[in-house]
Amino acid sequence: PRRVRVHHLAEAKERGEKLTMLTAYDYAVARIFDEAGIDLLLVGDSIGNTMLGHASPIPVTVDEMLPPTRAVVRAAKRALVVADLPFGSYEAGPEQALATAVRYLKEAGAHAVKFEGGVRVAAQVRALTDAGIPVVGHLGFTPQSENTLGGHRVQGRGDEAAERLAEDALALQEAGAVAVVLEMVPAPVAARVTEILHIPTIGIGAGAECDGQVLVWTDMAGMSDWSPRFAKQFAAVGALLGEAARSYAAEVRGGQFPDADHSFLS
Ligand code: KIV
Ligand code: NA
Repeated sequence: PRRVRVHHLAEAKERGEKLTMLTAYDYAVARIFDEAGIDLLLVGDSIGNTMLGHASPIPVTVDEMLPPTRAVVRAAKRALVVADLPFGSYEAGPEQALATAVRYLKEAGAHAVKFEGGVRVAAQVRALTDAGIPVVGHLGFTPQSENTLGGHRVQGRGDEAAERLAEDALALQEAGAVAVVLEMVPAPVAARVTEILHIPTIGIGAGAECDGQVLVWTDMAGMSDWSPRFAKQFAAVGALLGEAARSYAAEVRGGQFPDADHSFLS
């Protein structure tokens, strides 16, 4: 299958074709999503919550992000692989952001990086773009700023906040961003941002008018112990996996497994 490239993103928007994105944190799952035709795989810093058991993405380090990014890149034959820069690895300025992002490309083979913020990180977006590193923006609810945002709350409510969100989105586009994730934004506000940008918006809890959608895969597949209201469960993989483990344990304890078919008899 033809690889998804950065220029395909704006082309998809122009043609009115929705973009699909899921998080992935390892080879096994990334391979399944790539074969399912998911356009973009996001090695999200949500790995802190979903795979490492933290209460937030804030403790996640660059050194923890690189191995999963490598694994997802190895699995992706078609999908564009985007990887999150974690908290503390880009905010200080363009030099810090560039040094971090260069590691993602050189050491892990990421195709693009994503980090949070608008106007405040526009210089970082510009520096990376100029260096040949595609950047995806992230606005609305930005989990790395949970402490200043006051928890998981919808962002961009009210005229003033909506206007600020639009300004941030335009600043990212102007700085060279190839797409913008909008998280927990009222649907009409996300629709307006989508309308004023020529780069695609990828929504998560941001309504149906975005140019694409992203979900955390463990939420999407019913693997999480908790998931937000906007994250629809498309399967009950967690229950299925638990059932498989229970059947396996029962057959081992009962002496049914391994049988002759699953043994080397000579
Ligand atoms: O880390 C992540 O999974 C993300 C998505 C929710 C967009 O940033
Ligand atoms: Na993230």
